[in-house]
Amino acid sequence: MYRSHNCGELRATNINEEVTLAGWVQKSRDKGFIVWVDLRDRYGITQLVFDEERTPKIMMEQAQKLGREFVIQITGTVIERASKNPNMSTGDIEILVSKLSILNESLLPPFTIEDKTDGGEDIRMKYRYLDIRRNPVKDNLIFRHKVTQEVRNYLSKEGFIEVETPYLIKSTPEGARDFVVPSRMNEGQFYALPQSPQTFKQLLMIGGMDKYFQIVKCFRDEDLRADRQPEFTQIDCEMAFIEQEDILNAFEGLTRHLLKEVNGVDIEKFPRMLYDDAMRLYGNDKPDIRFGMEFCPLTPKGEDFGFSVFDDAELVVGISVKGCANYTRKQIDELVNWVKRPQIGATGLIWIKHSEDGTLTSSVNKFFDEDYLNHFSNKMKAEAGDLMLVLAGNTDKVRTQLSALRMELADRLGLRNPKEFAPLWVMDFPLLEWDEDTERYHAMHHPFTSPKPGQLELLKTNPGDVKANAYDLVLNGNEIGGGSIRIHDKETQALMFDYLGFTPEEAKAQFGFLMDAFQYGAPPHGGLAFGLDRLVAILGGQETIRDFIAFPKNNNGRDVMIDAPAPIDDKQLEELSLKLNLKS
Ligand code: AMO
Repeated sequence: MYRSHNCGELRATNINEEVTLAGWVQKSRDKGFIVWVDLRDRYGITQLVFDEERTPKIMMEQAQKLGREFVIQITGTVIERASKNPNMSTGDIEILVSKLSILNESLLPPFTIEDKTDGGEDIRMKYRYLDIRRNPVKDNLIFRHKVTQEVRNYLSKEGFIEVETPYLIKSTPEGARDFVVPSRMNEGQFYALPQSPQTFKQLLMIGGMDKYFQIVKCFRDEDLRADRQPEFTQIDCEMAFIEQEDILNAFEGLTRHLLKEVNGVDIEKFPRMLYDDAMRLYGNDKPDIRFGMEFCPLTPKGEDFGFSVFDDAELVVGISVKGCANYTRKQIDELVNWVKRPQIGATGLIWIKHSEDGTLTSSVNKFFDEDYLNHFSNKMKAEAGDLMLVLAGNTDKVRTQLSALRMELADRLGLRNPKEFAPLWVMDFPLLEWDEDTERYHAMHHPFTSPKPGQLELLKTNPGDVKANAYDLVLNGNEIGGGSIRIHDKETQALMFDYLGFTPEEAKAQFGFLMDAFQYGAPPHGGLAFGLDRLVAILGGQETIRDFIAFPKNNNGRDVMIDAPAPIDDKQLEELSLKLNLKS
């Protein structure tokens, strides 16, 4: 038996018991005549003591040589500590060691294995196995396990069946590039790794599985950010014989269950907002509704103010920031520069201060007298003490810019409390979105999403106005899930591919299997997929998903620990018929 107890469980009630523990040396303090060692494992830390009077000399010497992260096994007696540590669960006791075995030595770790480490991100990623020994990382992984377990329990209880779908498939378009895998046995041909199991879960509905879920890896070759990894995990779900309302209720139920079980938070009904309203009020399809600062349009289009910035703008829109009228010139200049950075791209920022004494001043005093400023202030529902910030220009650009500014201010002002949870359904997304680069419409969600009833005809005349039976679940300003009601007949699907610029031959070559399947009694169906990494991170009060993934990739898509991706040797290239292709 390696151990009788773990390092987090011994208490005063165990005093006088003989125990065996195993773990890592967190640190040791050597006073010459007495040595204390903190022994750590996944469950906690237990203090060991060796002293001149009670410990044989040879073991005393061994104890003095223990280095950080040595793996040891000890047997000893639980004794009461002279000076107790109320901050540790095992702080009432220590172990007087009678037997010590060194199971493995350790090099000096390249960073301290403490909650607050001296290791930077790069070095911690290179030695991720050491990073995982630290509480913050370990606790996040345990937290992820808890969420995953609750998901499986809840969905299983609701009658969902977990079915695995293949990883070596043909492209499933979700808007990113595919990772591809060359096939040795089929010269010159490639599998694509799934961007999602979308087509397979639809085939499972045609197969009569009725309620499916899968906790599944997805792969997308896209630009990486704090909330994006090239391989990530979805809780992928699909249901047959349902309407949109059934889907929303089913997965609101799951999310409510998680919030309750994992965070102890009760949320009655999730609010719903139309996509168009989200864009109008927050400039964003995933608004954080925990704080106000809603957008307020200031001028009807075309009004003549004699101020070209307003007169020429498609949209003039502002937010009112509570209690910031006392911002200094320097602080405001900094905000102006912030929105002018290339990442945001605004040409300028107009400000109006509604001072505590009721006076109004602004960066546009030249153009607007106090009456006008008052009018703006009323429109924006600003009160004494508030700072109004206004942008003008192209509607889409201004919305994106003001949305970024709103989030930045909320972060700076501490308005995004990670312990407060504000879920929101965003509904009725446009079916298509215009892509400037390819000068074509693309499916905003994916090409299997059905238009809202009665809108199919509109596709011919005003494709950009067609709304879809598509919905996103937003939590604290993050898109944690998205889904739709699907097209389930061949004709509509063919029409959809046609609108998306596929020739019938291309559609058949890529998705013939699905359109064929639609001809064998495809039931009405729909579903949703949660981004598990994002969900876990937000429930855990954070937004960087890397911190909740055991072995994440860095922002260049590299695993710096195993040094991947890496070249493969000539023989492998040849076997995969890639060598000739590369040279030619
Ligand atoms: P979608 O593309 O919206 O829908 O993806 C679903 C959810 O997955 C998460 N997500 C990501 N998480 C981390 N890194 C990424 N690179 C990444 N990309 C997406 C997001 C997102 O909401 N097949 C459809 C679902 C459906 O229609 O049922 C799909 O994949 O949280």
